[in-house]
Parts: sequence; C-alpha cells; structure tokens
Amino acid sequence: MSAAALRRRPTHMFITLEGIEGSGKSTLLDALARRLRDAGRDVLTTREPGGTPVGDAIREVVLHKRDLDVSPLAEALLMNASRAALVERVIRPALAAGRIVLCDRYDDSSMAYQGYGRGLDLRMLRGICDAATGGLQPDLTLLLDISPEVSRERVSGRGTENRLDGETLEFYRRARQGFLTMASTQKRWRVFDGLQGARELADAAATAVFEELGARS
Ligand code: TYD
Repeated sequence: MSAAALRRRPTHMFITLEGIEGSGKSTLLDALARRLRDAGRDVLTTREPGGTPVGDAIREVVLHKRDLDVSPLAEALLMNASRAALVERVIRPALAAGRIVLCDRYDDSSMAYQGYGRGLDLRMLRGICDAATGGLQPDLTLLLDISPEVSRERVSGRGTENRLDGETLEFYRRARQGFLTMASTQKRWRVFDGLQGARELADAAATAVFEELGARS
C-alpha cells in the first residue's frame, strides 16, 4: 500500500466504557458516538452482555431470570460466551473495516464483577476472558467512577433491575476497587469522576478520545 493510501486509511479504534451501575456509561456512550460522527468518523456502538442474537439470549438468561441459581463460574462463562460471539461477529469485522467501536462494558467487567466482586480466581478468569476475546484488548478504556452508595441511589430511581442489582454494597465496593486497581496498572485506562454533569463528562471523555485518535493517525 502506498504512503498516501495508508494516510487515507480510516483509523480504527476500540473504546470501552466501564464502571458500576448508574455511573452514566450509556449516556456518555451516546454523547461520544454523536461527537465522533459529527467529526466524520464511522462509529459502531454495542454493549455487553448482548450485541448479537446469541448474546442477547444469554443476556436474558444471565440478567433477567432472577430466580435461576447461576454459580459465579457459570456466570463468568455465560458472560464470556456472549463476549466471544460479539468479538468474532461484530467487533473484529468493524475494526477491520476501519470503524471506531464503542462498547458499553467488556472483559474488565468480568474481572471486576466475577473476579474482584464474586471472588473467582483472577488468573483463571483472565484465561477465560483471553480465550473469549482472542486477546483483543481495547485501545482506550474510560472508567466512570462513582461510589456504591451513589450507584444504589441512582439505580433504585430507574425502576428496571437486573439480577446483579440486588447485590450488597460490599460487592460493589469490591467491583469498584477492582476497576480502580486495573486502571492504575494499565496505560489504556482514563478515570473520570462520575459525579460530574453529563456535559462536563462528555467534554472530558471526548478530549481523551480525540487525543488518542490524533496520536494514532
Ligand atoms: P446492564 O443492565 O447493561 O447494566 P449497566 O447499565 O450497569 O451496564 O447490566 C449489565 C450487568 O452485567 C451489570 O450488572 C454488570 C454485569 N456484568 C458482569 O457481571 N460481568 C460481565 O462480564 C459483564 C459484561 C457484565
């Protein structure tokens, strides 16, 4: 490929959003997608668990069948089965086509919830996640950090609950700490205070995304 063609090649980028419930990921994802599209970028948005027909079926089982007794390991495997389908059928093809992928949660959620939260062995879990993703890691991960108390307050106001929403504050404390621990050890993370207003948060996150895009093109 010539240098000119290489320069013209669209920059693909894989961005994930993480944080405990009610941290504002979905609102931020919509705002970021809008800003990137306004800047002429081709964006695909998706979420976990879900994002494919089989992933949506798994989501239904793992989040909404509240009376099912799902063990921590079974939960981890179900999340990763959904992830494997999403990576293979949606995320990799989009990146190969030069698109920007914005994903609401990814394997860091498994590490935080099933690992730090439920206590599954982190090394074993890392192996399961790597098998599901084929080692595909995000270029950038935006962590929206809020306390479990604020999370609970926000989620109880929203009316729709899933199986994990019934967990104790201590569980969410461990999951939050897990996110912060991972964020402190890998360069791809950017941590934002989830108490900021939606507009401020979108400004700060967009700056981080455009900076990274600039560095890569
Ligand atoms: P969702 O309704 O999408 O909540 P949120 O808007 O907070 O993302 O539910 C996703 C739930 O699944 C959430 O409680 C986190 C949990 N989860 C895991 O426990 N492990 C995982 O690997 C993933 C992707 C999600």
